[in-house]
Amino acid sequence: MEIEKSNYDIVEMVNEFKIRKGKFKDIPEVIEINMKTLPEHYSDDFYEDMVKNSPETFLVAENNDIVGYIICRIEHGFSSFKKLKIVKKGHIVSVAIKEKHRRKGIGKALINNAVQGMMMRNCAEAFLEVRISNVMAIDLYKVLGFEIKSRMERYYNDGEIAYSMSLNLEEPK
Ligand SMILES: CC(C)(COP(=O)(O)OP(=O)(O)OC[C@H]1O[C@@H](n2cnc3c(N)ncnc32)[C@H](O)[C@@H]1OP(=O)(O)O)[C@@H](O)C(=O)NCCC(=O)NCCS
Repeated sequence: MEIEKSNYDIVEMVNEFKIRKGKFKDIPEVIEINMKTLPEHYSDDFYEDMVKNSPETFLVAENNDIVGYIICRIEHGFSSFKKLKIVKKGHIVSVAIKEKHRRKGIGKALINNAVQGMMMRNCAEAFLEVRISNVMAIDLYKVLGFEIKSRMERYYNDGEIAYSMSLNLEEPK
């Protein structure tokens, strides 16, 4: 019975890796990956809020351990595609894969499934910010159809510029 119950949360298998909804018990491992991988960190409350309020878009990849995660928040804001229109948007706040498991299709699967979750929540667009030096992430987002919409000077604490990239979920290419 326990296996059936846990299978319910699996959204996709990528080879031996389960892509599934994130749970409270995953938060310490997710924080550990975030701390080792990215300079942008979040409070425990933030992660708990994601499990409670954004379960469709807080996903983890797991074999025996958690090897990657994606966290997205549902927000409202100006459209990147329709002038002066306020729309519901899915914001990819953080995505990371442990170094030894990169380039296995896990990042792509996490983003694709989180975008599906945003569509379930009736989001019109997905968006994210990315460092202009992060060529591998920018390439991945472009493969998934995201477009660079603006450039934000000194966006990061260390002064680096960000691109804002968006994906239209109402009129997919
Ligand atoms: C960016 C990141 C999440 C990608 O995850 P991943 O699981 O390695 O990505 P995937 O294997 O799904 O790659 C899918 C596609 O993205 C592109 N891509 C991914 N890594 C790349 C790299 N190092 N160089 C060039 N293109 C790359 C390729 O087009 C790739 O397809 P391919 O392998 O068939 O050529 C991962 O590299 C990571 O955790 N980086 C550190 C954290 C980070 O920068 N997060 C993003 C912050 S905005």
